[in-house]
Amino acid sequence: QVPLPRAENIVLIGLMGSGKSTVGRMVAQMLGFQFVDTDHMIIERAGCSIPEIFAREGEAGFRLRESAALRSLLGSKHCVIATGGGIVTQARNRALLQHLGFITWLEADVKLLARRTAGNNDRPLLRGEEPPLQKLTRLLAERKPLYKQLADLRIQTDELSQQESAYGVAESA
Ligand code: S3P
Repeated sequence: QVPLPRAENIVLIGLMGSGKSTVGRMVAQMLGFQFVDTDHMIIERAGCSIPEIFAREGEAGFRLRESAALRSLLGSKHCVIATGGGIVTQARNRALLQHLGFITWLEADVKLLARRTAGNNDRPLLRGEEPPLQKLTRLLAERKPLYKQLADLRIQTDELSQQESAYGVAESA
């Protein structure tokens, strides 16, 4: 039995493919919390896909939409919030994330992330000229200090099943 978390919400951060959505859903089920995914909120509100948003509005437009999604979650309780991997790049988003609740960083080896995200066309940042492994390595170098700064808890997931990661999140929040 997982004890009820002290935090109002649980927020998951980490690179693409780190399991935020899958693990987040499991945590929500374990705790009887609602599962929310900022990428899904954005898609629903925009009425189009993430690659389409990037094409029309650029990455900056997408980041603004992430801020709007986070703002609309302020005041919510008992949610598990999975976020997009780049949400931490904006100072305004970092402030919003800290207000929302207990932040867990799901870490995974970049090779594993590259394997998990391979063949998926929904992530425009991995569709450029640069090979995905190289791009993910670069993104990790840029974002690691931000993930580190924000995380109340970090879970190295390489050796864990998704169920075990979920348990780790639920237990510590
Ligand atoms: C992004 C990660 C994606 C999505 C968008 C940008 C990023 O979410 O928000 O493609 O900048 O790392 P996931 O981390 O859920 O793949």
